[in-house]
Amino acid sequence: MSDSAKRPVLIVLTSHWVSMLGVFLVTLAGFSWLFVLPANLRGGISNPYLGLLAFVAIPIVFFAGLVLIPIGIALGRKKLTAELDAIPDRRDLWRRAGLFFGLMTLANLVIGSQLSYRAVEQMDTVQFCGQTCHVMKPEFTAHGLPPHRQVACASCHIAPGAEGFVRAKMNGTRQLIEVTFNTFPRPIEPALASNRLVSSAETCEQCHSRQRVTGPMLKIVNKYKDDEANTPTKTVLMMMVGGGRTGGIHGVHLGPGVHIRYAASDNKRQTIPWVEYQNTESRETRTYVAAGTNPNDVKSLPVFEMQCVDCHNRASHSFEQPDAAVDRFIANGQIATSLPFVKKTGLALVKATYPSSDEAAQKIKDGLIQFYRQSYPAVASQHAAEIESAARALTAAYQDNNFPDLKVAWGTYPNNLGHTDFPGCFRCHDDSHANSDKKTITQDCNTCHQALAVEETSPAVLETLGLGSKK
Ligand code: HEC
Ligand code: HEC
Ligand code: HEC
Ligand code: HEC
Ligand code: HEC
Repeated sequence: MSDSAKRPVLIVLTSHWVSMLGVFLVTLAGFSWLFVLPANLRGGISNPYLGLLAFVAIPIVFFAGLVLIPIGIALGRKKLTAELDAIPDRRDLWRRAGLFFGLMTLANLVIGSQLSYRAVEQMDTVQFCGQTCHVMKPEFTAHGLPPHRQVACASCHIAPGAEGFVRAKMNGTRQLIEVTFNTFPRPIEPALASNRLVSSAETCEQCHSRQRVTGPMLKIVNKYKDDEANTPTKTVLMMMVGGGRTGGIHGVHLGPGVHIRYAASDNKRQTIPWVEYQNTESRETRTYVAAGTNPNDVKSLPVFEMQCVDCHNRASHSFEQPDAAVDRFIANGQIATSLPFVKKTGLALVKATYPSSDEAAQKIKDGLIQFYRQSYPAVASQHAAEIESAARALTAAYQDNNFPDLKVAWGTYPNNLGHTDFPGCFRCHDDSHANSDKKTITQDCNTCHQALAVEETSPAVLETLGLGSKK
């Protein structure tokens, strides 16, 4: 290109500091992009911070630069016109300038579309959702446990199709802004509470069929007492899961023709004063109202139709109760039952409040060692390795469920599957919700499960089934 052809381009781009800044940003982003390109072509960037840089920071800088250039040109219009007027033979110059901008735009489109396509792709990975964004650490941690470890965050949080995609990106952008300006809520609200959860029909039911029939399902809960021997006990429940037209837990709420709607008076949906059962096949409708409810108060409440996540609300992010967390590590052998009172002492240590995760680790370890030194000096010296291992496991029990910097602690997120730790099933099945015929939503102990053993040391039923010796 001849000297005179470059000039108008330079004049146009340098006529105002805003467009100069724009050119600088586009160039910077362009070079940074070339820099991360090799890693990108090798099959993606797995380091979340590099990912954040490559797929969020660079595109922002790039597009900001592109936007600034025309703004600068518009701002410097007057000076620009004067300078261009001074050049002879402007037609030819304009043609060359047009060619230059055309080629640049094409190059920018290629880089820009690559950037945004990769950015969008990256944002759907488990790593991006869970790790880049530190605020989602609790959910990422819980997601690492079975059975949904392999299921991408997007499968449950983004509805299939274009609309779900756009909605998710808008939500994501808002969240990114909240994180950037540090205005996100601590703790993050349960997704049901903020009404942001995509319906189960578009998520869970893409993998699990609503009409699948499951026979009675054995549920064995391992627990340990707080005595010196940490005596193991087992609770054995036969869960009447059912499904479809066979009734049972799934069939009754979600079988063909069944629609259960309910009104909740708090956003976490823990208090449910009004429930309606409707069966379009048998043409039955029953409306239940909790004792002491004023019908007028119910009218203004939001109404929801029951779906999978009304019971399985913690699928994939099932935080534990302290008891259950400690029991899990005793059951898998990382906390030795040979350590006297390890259940009781460990439970007290993980239940205490700590200002930070690191401090928890230190204090739990110190506390456990201290306890054995004082109460069981012989154990402290002879079983130091077991105590060390137990301390590590207790720390893990704490850190899987507590995130002090995000204000997530034991019990922050209610779990609706059950009724012993949170209201759960008993939000409706409390024998106080009655219809006009005084029929109530049942609380009969044998409707949902047969309790074959409750905290027994060696349940006969497990012996019968040949499961007796197993943990
Ligand atoms: C199997 C489905 C499923 C998968 C996979 C999943 N989630 Fe969730 N997530 C849910 C459900 C259901 C809720 C609603 C919980 C509630 O309202 O009690 C939720 C809630 C959340 C919340 C709101 C805060 C809370 O704990 O309620 C965040 C944040 C979140 N998920 C992030 C993630 C991230 C990050 C991933 C991937 C690492 C992920 N989710 C994967 C089902 C899923
Ligand atoms: C991408 C597919 C996928 C999605 C989406 C999905 N799941 Fe699953 N889910 C699985 C797989 C795979 C398993 C493990 C195999 C099995 O037990 O069927 C599983 C297991 C389960 C289990 C059995 C848990 C256990 O302890 O055995 C429950 C309950 C469950 N899912 C509920 C849900 C709910 C509720 C949602 C929606 C919030 C959901 N799933 C979304 C694939 C999925
Ligand atoms: C009324 C509450 C409730 C609703 C609604 C519900 N479930 Fe369940 N589900 C349960 C209970 C209770 C169990 C027994 C297992 C347990 O206690 O851990 C169970 C068991 C399961 C299991 C494991 C057993 C099996 O069949 O493999 C899966 C998977 C499952 N549910 C998926 C779903 C899906 C998908 C939906 C929505 C279509 C759904 N559930 C709706 C309460 C419910
Ligand atoms: C939003 C309210 C609500 C919640 C929460 C709820 N249920 Fe139900 N449940 C109902 C209604 C309504 C019926 C049907 C009552 C009728 O037949 O009129 C029902 C019926 C049942 C039945 C059949 C009862 C019978 O008499 O045969 C079972 C079993 C059951 N539920 C299990 C559960 C389990 C397990 C949970 C918790 C995981 C649960 N429900 C949570 C509203 C609820
Ligand atoms: C509406 C259904 C329903 C009714 C009614 C019901 N339960 Fe349950 N129960 C459940 C579910 C669901 C679980 C959770 C199973 C699991 O852990 O996945 C559970 C768990 C339990 C557990 C084990 C808790 C643990 O983890 O140690 C016991 C014990 C229990 N129920 C006793 C009772 C008793 C006693 C009654 C009568 C007052 C009763 N249940 C009535 C649904 C019900």
